[in-house]
Amino acid sequence: MRKIALSVLALMVAAAAFVAFAAELPETITIDDCADKKAPVEFTHEAHFAYSDCVTCHHTSEGLTLETAATMEVPSCASCHNEPENAETPKCSEMSLKKNHYHISCVGCHKEAVAENAESKAPTKCVDCHPAPAKG
Ligand code: HEC
Ligand code: HEC
Ligand code: HEC
Ligand code: HEC
Repeated sequence: MRKIALSVLALMVAAAAFVAFAAELPETITIDDCADKKAPVEFTHEAHFAYSDCVTCHHTSEGLTLETAATMEVPSCASCHNEPENAETPKCSEMSLKKNHYHISCVGCHKEAVAENAESKAPTKCVDCHPAPAKG
């Protein structure tokens, strides 16, 4: 009996911990490191958990999953890419779809998604991600 009560308690603690760290994972994200050059890009981070593993995007965070997120520091993309240490690292200041790290990662997967399924809503046009500034 005591044992059961204890394991129920352990489960409750685990559930509470899960809720606590899940809340820290950003649900939506606005990427605006280059906002002076192009409209900030908003996307649903949470929805993307279903499209790929965490490490597809957080490619330097080996072992990052929903379960390990609470125990790991997740560096921002900009911390390595805006002023990269070496010439091979794609940087934010490249607007080209082949050289900007966001364009490679984000648009690359979206193009694949659309190629696989014409109904896909994965955005591939500039204005879909960089909305034109509101007039007025
Ligand atoms: C589609 C790509 C993508 C996927 C998949 C993804 N993320 Fe992210 N995540 C991002 C981007 C982009 C940011 C914003 C980083 C920045 O500010 O440069 C971010 C931010 C974060 C942050 C906040 C980091 C900070 O700056 O404080 C955490 C924590 C995080 N993600 C965890 C996860 C976990 C855990 C998963 C898997 C369950 C995951 N992400 C899946 C793209 C993704
Ligand atoms: C700890 C530093 C670091 C962080 C954080 C980081 N990157 Fe990178 N990234 C690199 C380096 C270094 C390279 C070039 C060497 C390589 O391919 O690993 C690179 C390469 C890339 C490439 C090109 C890969 C290829 O196949 O050509 C893409 C795309 C990319 N990063 C996207 C991102 C995105 C998106 C984020 C945030 C979700 C991110 N990176 C976070 C360091 C980082
Ligand atoms: C899937 C979404 C997506 C699509 C589609 C997209 N971009 Fe981006 N782009 C981004 C993200 C994310 C950033 C990083 C924004 C930031 O850091 O403020 C970015 C950054 C930029 C920047 C700023 C880079 C700099 O420092 O100068 C330019 C310019 C840009 N995009 C132009 C374009 C053009 C032109 C197209 C169409 C050919 C396009 N983008 C399509 C997501 C997208
Ligand atoms: C591994 C594949 C993959 C990667 C990487 C990815 N996406 Fe997506 N994204 C998708 C799919 C699939 C959909 C649309 C699903 C549907 O049809 O509703 C989508 C939808 C979206 C949408 C529209 C709905 C929403 O979430 O707001 C935006 C905006 C978006 N992505 C931005 C981004 C940005 C910015 C990045 C890079 C930081 C990114 N995506 C990286 C697969 C991906």
